[in-house]
Amino acid sequence: MVYLDSGFQTPLCRPVKQAYERFLREGFETAGPKQVWLNRLEETREKVATFLGVGPQEIAFTKNTSESMNIAANALPLSVGDKVLMIEGDHPNNAYAFLNLRRRGVGVEFIPMTEVVNAESFRSHIDDRTRAISMSQVTFHAGHRFDIASVGRLCAEKGLYFVVDVMQGIGVVPIEAKAMGASFIGSGTHKGLLVPQGLGLLYWNAALTELEPDYLATISLAEPPADFIARVGNMALAPTAGRFELGNFNLPAIQALGAAIDLINAIGIENIQNHCFDLGDYLIERLDELDIGLVGPRERRHRAPHIYVTALPADHWLEYFKQSGIRVSPERDGIRVSFGMFNVTADIDHLIEAIRRRDVPLASAARTTALSKLA
Ligand SMILES: Cc1ncc(COP(=O)(O)O)c(C=O)c1O
Repeated sequence: MVYLDSGFQTPLCRPVKQAYERFLREGFETAGPKQVWLNRLEETREKVATFLGVGPQEIAFTKNTSESMNIAANALPLSVGDKVLMIEGDHPNNAYAFLNLRRRGVGVEFIPMTEVVNAESFRSHIDDRTRAISMSQVTFHAGHRFDIASVGRLCAEKGLYFVVDVMQGIGVVPIEAKAMGASFIGSGTHKGLLVPQGLGLLYWNAALTELEPDYLATISLAEPPADFIARVGNMALAPTAGRFELGNFNLPAIQALGAAIDLINAIGIENIQNHCFDLGDYLIERLDELDIGLVGPRERRHRAPHIYVTALPADHWLEYFKQSGIRVSPERDGIRVSFGMFNVTADIDHLIEAIRRRDVPLASAARTTALSKLA
């Protein structure tokens, strides 16, 4: 198979597979050495923190992006009449977390999704009830790479909380959490971080101690009771992002994440980014030869390195690509081609040859009406 679908999920890589196999072997042979696994969890937390340029006390493990965004949305001290700004058409797993705050009388205003989104896109929408902005760093449906740092600076200037979904960028685009100026950053790990579904990350700016979880479990506490008896007097929250964690963890996936980050670091995140950008340049060049449009931004400074949506209607093309052994995703406005570190230009040549072989009009392809699957 020609795999051009890392924006959906990445295929299992050897270090991740080996980490799962080790976990299974240990569980099978020694009846679950939990403390060994928990020690590895803390090692992975350190790796994640270093990867994002923050302290380990600012990283929580969650289930996925949706859970991270919901934890963030509900931790913000918002009240009736307050407003959160988002981008129209941004990933629904981010949007619903905030739309659900309507139950508490908190409104969401969507600004238009334009090719470039930066501080100026939001500025005129901020009024005296605006309390927060939430947005994706990279869009799943067209590969925009928004100017997060400028929005972060705007939030600092206006005293707003800033919540960023990095699910599509992490593992391909270098992320410096502090430079983003985010209050929270949420992500899953099944794309650029190479780990199968079921594990998420949450960065919390530990200086924002007023941000508290809606849910509580023993591990959320500063001093979990040694006798395992819950009392109202011992409910002080952990001073770390552990305050947002609940119960037992997805231990095999967390160990696999440690192995995945080692792999990414060995290759170098900048190298991964540059490699994907080079593949993207080549793809655009080849699409231009066929007069096939690109739905998202073309320029490197505005586009994600690895996500490209071709203006080929999904309802005409998806099945054909599948039958041709090429794995891509249907999106709102066409077929999404997305790269991982393992792709090579020959993969793009396969795609282009398959398009050439097909006897249908290529240029001016009608816009797809097919419902995008939820990336
Ligand atoms: C921007 C973005 N956010 C979130 C998700 C997924 O959310 P979750 O990790 O909760 O499944 C995706 C795609 O899977 C995405 O592209």
